[in-house]
Amino acid sequence: MPNKRNILITGGAGFIGSHVVRLFVTKYPEYRIVNLDKLTYAGNLANLKDVEQAENYTFVKADICDFERMLEVFRDYRIDGVIHLAAESHVDRSIKDPFTFARTNVMGTLSLLQAAKMSWEGAYEGKRFYHISTDEVYGALDFDGTFFTETTKYDPHSPYSASKASSDHFVRAFHDTFGLPVVVTNCSNNYGPYQFPEKLIPLFINNIRHNKPLPVYGKGENVRDWLYVVDHARAIDVIFHQGKVADTYNIGGFNEWKNIDLIKVLIRTVDRLLGRPEGASEHLITYVTDRAGHDLRYAIDSTKLKKELGWEPSLQFEEGIEKTVKWYLDNQTWLDNVTSGDYQSYYEKMYGSR
Ligand code: NAD
Ligand code: DAU
Repeated sequence: MPNKRNILITGGAGFIGSHVVRLFVTKYPEYRIVNLDKLTYAGNLANLKDVEQAENYTFVKADICDFERMLEVFRDYRIDGVIHLAAESHVDRSIKDPFTFARTNVMGTLSLLQAAKMSWEGAYEGKRFYHISTDEVYGALDFDGTFFTETTKYDPHSPYSASKASSDHFVRAFHDTFGLPVVVTNCSNNYGPYQFPEKLIPLFINNIRHNKPLPVYGKGENVRDWLYVVDHARAIDVIFHQGKVADTYNIGGFNEWKNIDLIKVLIRTVDRLLGRPEGASEHLITYVTDRAGHDLRYAIDSTKLKKELGWEPSLQFEEGIEKTVKWYLDNQTWLDNVTSGDYQSYYEKMYGSR
């Protein structure tokens, strides 16, 4: 790969994207990092305050579905690498509004693929299109100790996972049909700073702090495999640079938690850090109607990534959760801004709406 690169990171104002942008901007001063984001409700440039002045960083407000604009961006910034994270990402929203998910996740990905193909015109040496996907495309596992591997058959159940599965197929089809140098990764549930508080961990930390009910779907028996977001960003770095073209890598922490057990850890940690007796907030647990089509268990086997590229998580879960809870408790203003929507009007004034 060339030393100087112009890398387009889509969705860089979101949760995972902001950690990827931060890592690339600080670790690779010789690269130009173009963060392209539509700034939906989930995109927040306050996530990148510490790197926004860096010389090798540029922000572009745009919608990935705007194909003409994608062509312009590829041309204007001479993009030679893409790390594609922009997506609608919340399962509950996909149940209420599946069209938005098909539009952004499927048509938006297609628009980027076509822009890459047309801009690179078959001169693929040194180019790379890296698509970030999820373990949810594999469907759901039983409590039988099995794992999702890179060869597990796709079996998505929610409109969100169906849209991600569809985008994965388009990415692979662009390799098989046009030779586009793609790589795909499927990662487990991420947690850490800057996650929008509609997702389990930040939502519950905030609610525990404010003595609000904790809405546990069903019996709280569903299992998720949790990975600290900075470790995901580290994996993306390794795979962007060393992953094999047309290959797929699973990313996960071998760290399965039943929701209710994880929630009790959160309660104890928040209580302790706020000086309350540990477990005092357990009365906030409120069992509510289950999520429609709620996948029972996800568990990722990331052995291939470890064996072939040497990546493994750097943080133990206990350490990651402690850091995460502290971060949300210390950054109440960030949480207040995203829950009130104030961050959107602020950046709307700066960047307008295109
Ligand atoms: P997020 O919702 O926090 O961020 C998504 C970002 O994409 C936001 O900044 C949003 O403004 C932007 N965006 C949305 N629609 C856009 C459009 N049409 N054009 C341009 N930008 C747009 O999501 P996240 O949790 O950071 O997830 C990022 C990616 O990682 C997604 O592709 C998701 O499927 C995948 N993923 C997430 C997890 C997880 O646990 N969060 C796990 C595995 C994979
Ligand atoms: O597995 C990777 C996926 O993880 C990503 O692809 C998605 O973008 C990301 O949102 C996440 O999906 P989940 O549906 O697993 O995450 P969520 O935080 O919404 O829910 C985690 C679990 O907690 C899930 O079993 C549903 C449950 N839950 C969630 C919420 C928001 C509750 O019980 N109550 C809640 O209020």
